Amino acid sequence: MQTIETDVAIIGAGPAGLLLSHLLGREGVHSVVVERRSRAYVESRIRAGILESAVVDLLDEVGLGARLRDEAFLHKGIYLQWPGERHHLDFVELVGRGVFLYGQSELQLDLARARDEQGQALYYEAADVTLHDLDAEAPSVTFLDAGGEPVTLRARAVAGCDGKHGPSRQALLAAAGTTYRRDYPFAWLGILAQVAPSTDELIYAWHPDGFALHSMRSPTVSRLYLQVDLDTDLEAWSDEQIWDALAVRLGAGQGDWSLERGPVLDRAVLPFASFVVAPMRHGRLFLAGDAAHTVPPTGAKGLNLAVADVALLGPALVAWLRDGDRGLADAYSDTALRRVWRSTHFSWWMTTMLHRVGDDFDAQLQRTQLAMTTSSPAHAAALAESYAGLPIGF
Ligand code: APR
Ligand code: PHB
Repeated sequence: MQTIETDVAIIGAGPAGLLLSHLLGREGVHSVVVERRSRAYVESRIRAGILESAVVDLLDEVGLGARLRDEAFLHKGIYLQWPGERHHLDFVELVGRGVFLYGQSELQLDLARARDEQGQALYYEAADVTLHDLDAEAPSVTFLDAGGEPVTLRARAVAGCDGKHGPSRQALLAAAGTTYRRDYPFAWLGILAQVAPSTDELIYAWHPDGFALHSMRSPTVSRLYLQVDLDTDLEAWSDEQIWDALAVRLGAGQGDWSLERGPVLDRAVLPFASFVVAPMRHGRLFLAGDAAHTVPPTGAKGLNLAVADVALLGPALVAWLRDGDRGLADAYSDTALRRVWRSTHFSWWMTTMLHRVGDDFDAQLQRTQLAMTTSSPAHAAALAESYAGLPIGF
């Protein structure tokens, strides 16, 4: 049995866990990261791709912006469309800032490299990760390392950055806390395709058959989504059927716009869920990112929220563990939840406006809301403000 002393035991090596370890390391606070999956698995996961400009500024400030600034694409806004109409919302014009397209897997690579440079311990392929004594002065985390050897981390704080399915949220809820939850009666079928995007910026489409989204990863790789039923069998859709449905919903053939097709590199059905756990802290356990809250993907907020949590939690743990000042740590949950609820509301609002549910009355309300959002500068600015993102310190 190996026992390791550290300041912060971080569970999960996704963007939240790795960025937290980076922020702590820069300020001389030691951490150990424990991750269930292999490094190759974590770095190849296909996830979202939109970063708010304040998030990019923050990554820049902490030395993680070099490749991002070079390779990310600035998007000034998005297109909103429904049959017969497509409108561009220019966020830069509306609220003075756009968003950056940069795959989460790219950010994950940058973060892992930064961690390598810091040289602090990171255990991949850890099994049976268990949290102990979260109310005590010295909480601990036990696990089996990749070779099956038991390890104990004795820490001063534990950061639960283990995503939607990790053990930290359950540990917190066993002691305290409430889960607020919203289930949606549909899912997204997502494809990654080897084809140049048929659009310069993202297209969010309302259609009587269901929502569709045209996103992208690079000048040669597109990412597209279709709203499908919850119990959809991925095998029941051929690639051709997927492209046909995307073409209809995205309005191919309207005017001179067409949807280019290409080989499908990856396909998956992504269920929708939305929850918030409050408070985000109990005793010496702090939750951050998807472990504490998950939003539906329509507003592209998941990754941005994870970064924003950690931007609060990092300095809070430094002030407490290095300088003996508990103020920010005690305020963490309330401060983080303000933004979490704002983003949860925005994600719910975008989802509700764009997905086909309910009856024709609902459809007419959605159509009038889309018309209002694209024709009234005040309504357009409200969408732009939330999509382009609030200041980190909101
Ligand atoms: N033990 C250790 N690690 C675990 C465990 C466990 N029992 N369970 C889960 N993990 C790991 C996962 O394998 C994953 O690598 O925790 C990590 C959590 O990372 P993410 O899911 O990426 O969550 P987070 O860092 O909060 O980032 C949120 O990710 O899911 C997307 O859309 C979401 O973009 C958002 C972002
Ligand atoms: C994506 O590129 O995967 C993506 C973009 C915007 C969203 C959701 C997903 O709202």
